[in-house]
Amino acid sequence: MKNYFKVDEWKIIEEGFDPEYNKVAESVFSLGNGRMGQRANFEEAYSGETLQGNYVAGVYYPDKTRVGWWKNGYPEYFAKVLNAANWIAIDVKIGDEQLDLAKCEIIDFRRELNMKEGYLSRNMAVRTASGKELRVESTRFCSIVDDEAGAIAYTVTAFNFDGVITLTTFIDGDIANADANYDEKFWDEVSKQVNGDSGVLQLRTKKTGFEVATAMKVSVLQGGYPINFSANPVRKEKYIGLEIKINATRNQPVTLFKYAANLSSQNYEKQELSAKALDTVERVSEKGFAIMLKEQAEAWAEKWKHNDILIEGDAAAQQGIRFNIFQLNQTYTGEDDRLNIGPKGFTGEKYGGSTYWDTEAYCVPFYLATAEQKVSRNLLLYRYKQLGKAIENAQLLGFKNGAALYPMVTMDGIECHNEWEITFEEIHRNGAIAYAMFNYVRYTGDEQYLTDYGLEVLIAISRFWAQRVNWSAQKELYVMLGVTGPNEYENNVNNNWYTSTIAVWCLKYTLDVIEKVKAKDASKYAELAARINFDEQAETDKFKDIIAKMYLPYDDELQIFLQQDGFLDKEQTLVKDLPESERPLVKKWSWDRILRSPFIKQADVLQGLYFFEDDYDLETIRRNYDYYEPRTVHESSLSPCVHSILAAKLGDVDRAYEFYLRTSRLDIDDYNDDTEDGCHITSMAGTWMSVVQGFGGMRVKNGQLLFNPLLPPKWNAFSFHIGFRGVLLNIKVSKEAVAITNTSDRDIEVSVYDGRYFIKANSEEVIKK
Ligand code: BGC
Repeated sequence: MKNYFKVDEWKIIEEGFDPEYNKVAESVFSLGNGRMGQRANFEEAYSGETLQGNYVAGVYYPDKTRVGWWKNGYPEYFAKVLNAANWIAIDVKIGDEQLDLAKCEIIDFRRELNMKEGYLSRNMAVRTASGKELRVESTRFCSIVDDEAGAIAYTVTAFNFDGVITLTTFIDGDIANADANYDEKFWDEVSKQVNGDSGVLQLRTKKTGFEVATAMKVSVLQGGYPINFSANPVRKEKYIGLEIKINATRNQPVTLFKYAANLSSQNYEKQELSAKALDTVERVSEKGFAIMLKEQAEAWAEKWKHNDILIEGDAAAQQGIRFNIFQLNQTYTGEDDRLNIGPKGFTGEKYGGSTYWDTEAYCVPFYLATAEQKVSRNLLLYRYKQLGKAIENAQLLGFKNGAALYPMVTMDGIECHNEWEITFEEIHRNGAIAYAMFNYVRYTGDEQYLTDYGLEVLIAISRFWAQRVNWSAQKELYVMLGVTGPNEYENNVNNNWYTSTIAVWCLKYTLDVIEKVKAKDASKYAELAARINFDEQAETDKFKDIIAKMYLPYDDELQIFLQQDGFLDKEQTLVKDLPESERPLVKKWSWDRILRSPFIKQADVLQGLYFFEDDYDLETIRRNYDYYEPRTVHESSLSPCVHSILAAKLGDVDRAYEFYLRTSRLDIDDYNDDTEDGCHITSMAGTWMSVVQGFGGMRVKNGQLLFNPLLPPKWNAFSFHIGFRGVLLNIKVSKEAVAITNTSDRDIEVSVYDGRYFIKANSEEVIKK
């Protein structure tokens, strides 16, 4: 754990510059608006270690798979979100000397991510190799009001010299993904134009043929006043620039405003892209930087009104949760059902920027409670639309009769993961997709979704499970062989308890939904059954047989569910006995050693107990928690949040708090030594859950909200917002009371601890502890 960034309730602050942490800082300070995003690279040249990153949502490239030994069924391509044109670039030359932080002496340096208002700023004074001293101040943001636009105000002030400063503002499309499998570049130039104070570069992705036009428009102030300037246009392959020479005098600031826009062919005709991108920069530049920034602050204030979690008395915890909520909002707005939430969002390339089970298992609950219903519905529809591809994917592996296996990793429905033990075996993801539907309907009450879309997906998933199990003559039970559970530090195991449990649950839920849909809309059900050749009698009989006779490994002596067959044969050492120098295991141990060890990457049995808590008594949950947690290394970011929620449920507030800090400050403190690759965006939704479901004890049962709050001793109070079926609530938990404010025009009945309370519209109920 590092203490590199300063603690502040609304900001992330870097004081002084350490090149060692530059890539971590680039991730943490990332900006985005759901449509586009970027790592916090410097505007000016930087020859030190950096990972350049600009991304446009939904624009991807199927990079040819690279594996040592090909296996039938592997996907041929790994679709990755593309590193796109760099639009922030401003090259600075003092005379002939290029400003490059890696080659300057730093006099002072401060960078701040303002989460309240949604911008990034930097203020630094440097001395160049030739002794020129200057200050650079920059502020930039990706607008959430004009979500195809971004803006930068970049100010240079000479301290100890007069002379020519050349500012070359450019758009560079000659970009490669750092994770490209064959070192190829994925963009071709379509067109470019640059003149006067603006320009636009249009690029096309190879293979997928997406086009993106990136435009810029600039203006300059000197000594606080607009100046006329004549810019020298620069044109190169996949590059446009405007070179502006300024006669700078000492102590007189020169500010360059750069407005940029990224428009993609997903939303416009290709022929009109460049013109529209130029219109956009024209329009936003007319508003001007100050107004755009003001609108940005207002729009963020509106978001915070519904999303903020307030923690009193613990600034580090407060900063952590705000950072998570901020990044989630920067990544996905839910307005476009073609988009999803990549594990790294717009903050890095790792994981290809694609969709994982993380969305259903972790992100859906966050969006259910903090955004309009259509946002989580869009996330479900995304999978519904990809059902055909999931069926094809299962066919490729030998399944039939409309069985669907959703991909472990996807951009457009096609599987693009290619490690056999995950691609073919980490099939529990199918369960998470069904669970998200259940969660959505439980939360919103929108049962119509099941009739219109959900049941079709459920039947296809259940058909998969029904074919994936096999009858064991020896056990006289169904078994599920050769799987990988959520704990990826075990592969190709038999009877992973979590996978088998969620499979059985899916079958039960499907039966339940069949009955519901039949009762609600018999003709629609009949139409669906005919369309997908659903032999109700035979297929549901099979589902019922599996439900009744599924083998779920259990140890009678320890009275715990076994993560998989043979788990107890492992040498039973504990994480506390591992030397710190050997962690994280994934970096320090061979894969062979990891696989044979008892160490668990992330919640596995415990993930199941979290999902299906109502099926188990508290003592069962406790025994399993006490057994598995000490063996868990939490090397997946998705792990601490589930443990935090379970610890809170078990009343272990100290452990719950410890896990909460770990999940919420995972990236700020670079816990897993991997933030340089990007932030762990999807697990940030888990952080939110650990406050709301963990400390807030929020659940939905029988269409009603329940709270069972627990206050960490370090906190004076905490509060959070929930939207539930048209009602907006603020729940504040303090040492003395739980106060629930209903800010909507509808009444609601909720449970708090063991009592039921009727909270009238626009009123508050204070429940003394
Ligand atoms: C985890 C998976 C997760 C993926 C993307 C992996 O490290 O083990 O459960 O889906 O990261 O977040």
